[in-house]
Parts: sequence; C-alpha cells; structure tokens
Amino acid sequence: MFNIEEFDIKLDTEVIGRSFIYCDEVDSTNSLLLTSKEFNNHGTVILAEHQKHGRGRKNREWFSNSGQNLTFSILLKGEFEQTRVNLINLGAAVSVAQALENLFQLNVELKWPNDVLIQKKKLCGILLESTSKGDKLNKIVVGIGINVNQPNFPGKFDIPPTSIRKEFHEEVSRERLLSEILNNFEKIIELSENNPSKILDDWRSRCKMIGEKVKVVEGDQAKFGIFQDIDTDGFMLLKVGEKLVKIHYGDVSIR
Ligand code: BTN
Repeated sequence: MFNIEEFDIKLDTEVIGRSFIYCDEVDSTNSLLLTSKEFNNHGTVILAEHQKHGRGRKNREWFSNSGQNLTFSILLKGEFEQTRVNLINLGAAVSVAQALENLFQLNVELKWPNDVLIQKKKLCGILLESTSKGDKLNKIVVGIGINVNQPNFPGKFDIPPTSIRKEFHEEVSRERLLSEILNNFEKIIELSENNPSKILDDWRSRCKMIGEKVKVVEGDQAKFGIFQDIDTDGFMLLKVGEKLVKIHYGDVSIR
C-alpha cells in the first residue's frame, strides 16, 4: 500500500504532483492521462499499483509486480516545440538518476535516450507520448516505470533488469523516491525553458557510452559507429566512418 501522506510531506513542488491520483489497477497510466477529460490539469500525476497493459518504447510491454514498484505518468500541458520535448525526455532520466544518487548513493548510468541503468542492468524505463494541435504539441505524458522493491525478474530480456532493492540490498520507500523524483523533475521543466544546456550536461555526465563503438537499431536497420555526443536538440550524433549521422530514434548497444 502506497502511503500518500508520507509522499505528500516530502513533495516540494508548485505544480508537479499537486494533483495526484492513486489507482489500484489501470490499463496504462500513460493511456489514461493521454485520453482522460477528468484528469487533465498540468502537472497531474497518476500512480498505479498495477497496469494491465503497461507500455514500453517500440510497442514493447512493461511488466512490473503489483505493489512493489513505481509505475506512474506525469501530464504536461502547454505549447511545446519538439526540441523542448527531447530535453524533457532526457531530463526525466536525469531526475530519476539524481534521486537514486541522493537517496541511495547508487552509481547510475544513462543510456540514450532515457534508460536508467545500474551495472549495465535496467532499473527504469521512460516513455514520452504526446498529442498535437496544429503544428504544436499541446500535451505531453511522461511515463516512468522504476523497479523499486521487486526481488527477482523471471523471463528473458534484451537488457537484464534489476531493482533498487537488489542493488541497495534493502527495501526502500517508494513514497520518498517518488517525491524526490517529482521535486527534481519540476526543476527540469524550468531548465528545459531557461537553461537547456544544464540538462544536456547533466545527462552527458552520466552517459558512459559516449566515445564508445555502438550499434543503433532503428526499425529493421542497424547502424554501426562511434557515439560522438548528443547535440543541442538531444539527438544522438553517431560517427560512421568520416560522416556524422544524426539519430532521432533507436536502441543503442555497445558493439
Ligand atoms: C521503456 O523502457 O520501454 C519504457 C517503459 C515505460 C513504462 C512506464 S510505466 C508507467 C507508464 N505507463 C505505461 O504504460 N508505460 C509507462
């Protein structure tokens, strides 16, 4: 059972999470915020103990044991340029990384665009989805799944999963973690408007793949090269031979 009071005491935001919906079971917290007319305020956060159809990137499923982890989505409303959305995408991963470092002194690694890893194992996945009006995005839903207290992960995975409990060797407070992430995330939203380079630097400093030989899979195409950097729009710059190729989307792995 998630203790809303414990969460609320540590929440130090103006808007993010001030409208907070706690559900036992939903299809997907992302789907709910994308479609709901009822839960439609900027900054609304929906946390579910169980998702029947939790979604990941590239139509993959996100599996998470009921009641042990964090599966939640944050609604942002306004008029957003694509570049700002990319920054929020990277920044969401930074806000999770900062919380894990501050609360549990974990050594966190970020994988482009927004996976959070520990010792090469996946601890958190993030799925950003949006709706548009005209040529502007008017609604962004930032969906975050974090393996918190799940003790084991049966099954086969592309990237082996882990949880905070497995890495920190203790059960941890989901309430404290969620409030810390939302506190950080509200600062990220401000930075995405006023100081985007800070988000890019904070992201870069936690990415250990920069400078490495990598493989990027986009659809049924694979590209091989050196992960040179991310650009000011948050895209990946891949050095293929003498050419610098901009990567908008894809799965990156070390070659
Ligand atoms: C990924 O790594 O592929 C992204 C996983 C995102 C999972 C979260 S859990 C909360 C939110 N609701 C969803 O259906 N998906 C996201």
